Amino acid sequence: MITKSPVQGLAGQTHRLFEQVYDYILNRIESGEWKAHDKLPSVRSLAQELNVHRLTVFKAYQLLKQNGKVYVKDKSGYFVHPDCSLAAEHLDDPIISSYFLKHHLSEIHEAPVTYYSTAIDMFRYQGARIIPVDIGPDGYHLEQVEVYMKQYKPRLFYMNPTFQNPTGYIVPSEQRKKLVELAEQYRCLLVEDDPFRDIYFGQEPPSPLFIYDTAGCAIYIRSFSKYVAPGLRIAVVACRPVLMKTLLTAKSLFDNGTPLLNQKIFLHYFFSSRLQQHLKKLRIALHIRKQMMEEELASTDWKWMGPKGGLNLWVKLPDTISMDLLLAKSLEQSLSFVPGAICDPLKELTSWIRLSYSYVNEQQLREGVKRLVDLYQSLIAK
Ligand SMILES: Cc1ncc(COP(=O)(O)O)c(C=O)c1O
Repeated sequence: MITKSPVQGLAGQTHRLFEQVYDYILNRIESGEWKAHDKLPSVRSLAQELNVHRLTVFKAYQLLKQNGKVYVKDKSGYFVHPDCSLAAEHLDDPIISSYFLKHHLSEIHEAPVTYYSTAIDMFRYQGARIIPVDIGPDGYHLEQVEVYMKQYKPRLFYMNPTFQNPTGYIVPSEQRKKLVELAEQYRCLLVEDDPFRDIYFGQEPPSPLFIYDTAGCAIYIRSFSKYVAPGLRIAVVACRPVLMKTLLTAKSLFDNGTPLLNQKIFLHYFFSSRLQQHLKKLRIALHIRKQMMEEELASTDWKWMGPKGGLNLWVKLPDTISMDLLLAKSLEQSLSFVPGAICDPLKELTSWIRLSYSYVNEQQLREGVKRLVDLYQSLIAK
């Protein structure tokens, strides 16, 4: 669990600190957590809670007062102005309340075995508190998920349950239904990020969790960037209409919308038989590359689980070497990999790396892995 100050999640932005504190207070008021005429925490206690100077909180309160968000009563402190709280009916909707309660938005997140680092950055940027949950070759520990749901009351559970990036793990189908039930029971929104589903070797993966969702507590996202073009940034999103409305607004505020021309061209390709033919070939090509990478690594004492799909091997190296050093030396030889710590919100996975077999052709791949192994051997020999 990450316990740093909620306002520090925004540090590094040009936003001044007292403005961040202002936003933080306003969020809590607008979310309905602090209701009309509620007394706000004292300057001293809020400063302590947020780990900022008292003057910073004082300035934020002054600005809130000036903008009519709070009022001062009998010198006894600051109180929520009645015109400034959120209509109660909105709070029943998990996504709307997640949005307003974003400083409380607890993503249950897949670590110590990981996740896709951009998501970590995005959630942090929104001020979310990230609660990591373990995922392994057999999926989640459902008891742990339930305990966390009870304990932290997360607003949102972000997951990538099919060929997870970076591990390649699959959440088994029997867990999928149960996870949806838990989300429903604890009123938590599930976000199922599913960009690797079509890249399987052999058997097709289990159906998305989304198919079990009858209460409308899941959002399903399936990007096509992974096998049409990197950076294509076109995805299918499925969810109930009220959530879709909110998502559409958020998306257009965030990036003004994906260019229509790209979408039209993609749609044409999507409905043609060429996409399916391409996928068939891609699955074979990637399977061959994966096996090739595994062959090259077979002589090492590195450990990995052969993934049944996806684009990466998730590899554990013996603890003897710094991954930063290995990466720096690799880059000198035009080799690259993702250090595991980047995918771990707790930064504990220091002996793991993600090796991608999707970028380069077979010959380059074989050569590259050989060079990486040689480099590693030469570094540990020193
Ligand atoms: C799990 C996961 N979701 C989403 C994305 C990004 O998809 P897009 O390029 O469509 O934004 C990635 C890219 O690496 C990913 O690994």
